[in-house]
Amino acid sequence: MKITVIGTGYVGLVSGTCLADVGNDVLCLDVDANKIRILNEGGIPIYEPGLEAMVKKNEAAGRLRFTTDIEAAVAHGAIQFIAVGTPPDEDGSADLQYVLAAARNVGRHMTDYKVVVDKSTVPVGTADKVRAAIAEELAQRGVDTPYSVVSNPEFLKEGAAVEDFMKPDRIVVGAEDPRAIDLMRELYAPFQRNHERLIMMDVRSAELTKYAANAMLATRISFMNELANLAEKLGADIEHVRHGMGSDPRIGYHFLYPGCGYGGSCFPKDVQALERTAREAGQELKILAAVEAANEVQKHVLTGKIVQHFGADLSGRTFALWGLAFKPNTDDMREAPSRALIGDLLARGARVRAYDPVAIHEAQRIFEGEAGVEFAASPMDALADADALAIVTEWKEFRSPDFDAIKSQLRHPVIFDGRNLYDPAHPRRAGLEYFPIGRK
Ligand SMILES: NC(=O)c1ccc[n+]([C@@H]2O[C@H](COP(=O)([O-])OP(=O)(O)OC[C@H]3O[C@@H](n4cnc5c(N)ncnc54)[C@H](O)[C@@H]3O)[C@@H](O)[C@H]2O)c1
Repeated sequence: MKITVIGTGYVGLVSGTCLADVGNDVLCLDVDANKIRILNEGGIPIYEPGLEAMVKKNEAAGRLRFTTDIEAAVAHGAIQFIAVGTPPDEDGSADLQYVLAAARNVGRHMTDYKVVVDKSTVPVGTADKVRAAIAEELAQRGVDTPYSVVSNPEFLKEGAAVEDFMKPDRIVVGAEDPRAIDLMRELYAPFQRNHERLIMMDVRSAELTKYAANAMLATRISFMNELANLAEKLGADIEHVRHGMGSDPRIGYHFLYPGCGYGGSCFPKDVQALERTAREAGQELKILAAVEAANEVQKHVLTGKIVQHFGADLSGRTFALWGLAFKPNTDDMREAPSRALIGDLLARGARVRAYDPVAIHEAQRIFEGEAGVEFAASPMDALADADALAIVTEWKEFRSPDFDAIKSQLRHPVIFDGRNLYDPAHPRRAGLEYFPIGRK
């Protein structure tokens, strides 16, 4: 099948590459000429495990191409995926300007039947707006070319995106037009060979499903974070509580890890956008307002522990920081808790020496010109002469460190662990003070 993917970011690049990998002819469009240049020169603009080799393989096979040429992109695919960003607007609602610009481009140039698929996370009712935007463009041209608009929200996780796309838990498709439904079934057939994973529904339900899933996951995290803070006050250990709860199959173990808050390009904005959608519909989602408020508090929980230990004035101190990405296996730092902690430490006069296996280039861009932030080439390099260590991202390489070496490097033998990576006995045995989240 001929497929166009509009927006070649985390979702667009992964989706386009995986669709090419099963034999489709895919053209990826982006308005960011630099991104397309990097891809056309054999590079890759993001870090995502397994993606680079797959991009190269499919490019070499002639099934995957990249362009900034809108007209050529619209002409190419019978299926036009919209995978552009939907960042939060000032009022928390999803900013649809990129989605609607992409839709207008399709309407402006299409000459035959197109299925336009909203893969970006978009509020309920967006498919209607996309349909209207295309209709307006066609009307201006005085043509009546047929098209369908479908909702196909994406559930891939950064860090495991290729695997998620190739072996999805489910593929949600909201579509009402039989011709579009047939095409979507054909498109996804290779991804569900051992059992049916397609969940077909109406467009509005599909749009809401994506927000519902992300809001639920964010709720579990904030719930556990608040409980962890309470456990600390009560002298209980949240890790025992987590085991005790998670063993109930009605609850399960997933997404019950307490920590220093969730970040990323999805949960924060999607929780806000769903709240906003609800308010516009005349209903308040009280739980979600609390989920977000709890997360804001939690992003500063390590700061609180550091201040309790070292006092409010941190001038002259240096903190080693392990982990910048909002989660492991990605270089994405959008809304990352590390940014909140670094901001707090700088505001209190401290310096930060940070290490991350893949996100340093992104951090250098974000903190450009910020004299208080420097970067280290290894976890141990980050520690030299630092007052203490703060851990913000649970990268695998941090899981089993040499605690004796950590102690010998730090000026004060203290670890503030925002991800509960260690059995508290281990760092303590090495003579380190250890401050995890919600543990004794
Ligand atoms: N990142 C994730 O893990 C994830 C997972 C599921 C869903 N989503 C959703 O998918 C959407 C995309 O997210 P992302 O993380 O891939 O964003 P991203 O910022 O990485 O990529 C978006 C790309 O779209 C391009 N773009 C913007 N307007 C364009 C236009 N008119 N034509 C062509 N290209 C255009 C941008 O230049 C950018 O490269 C969002 O709605 C997001 O909520 C993201």
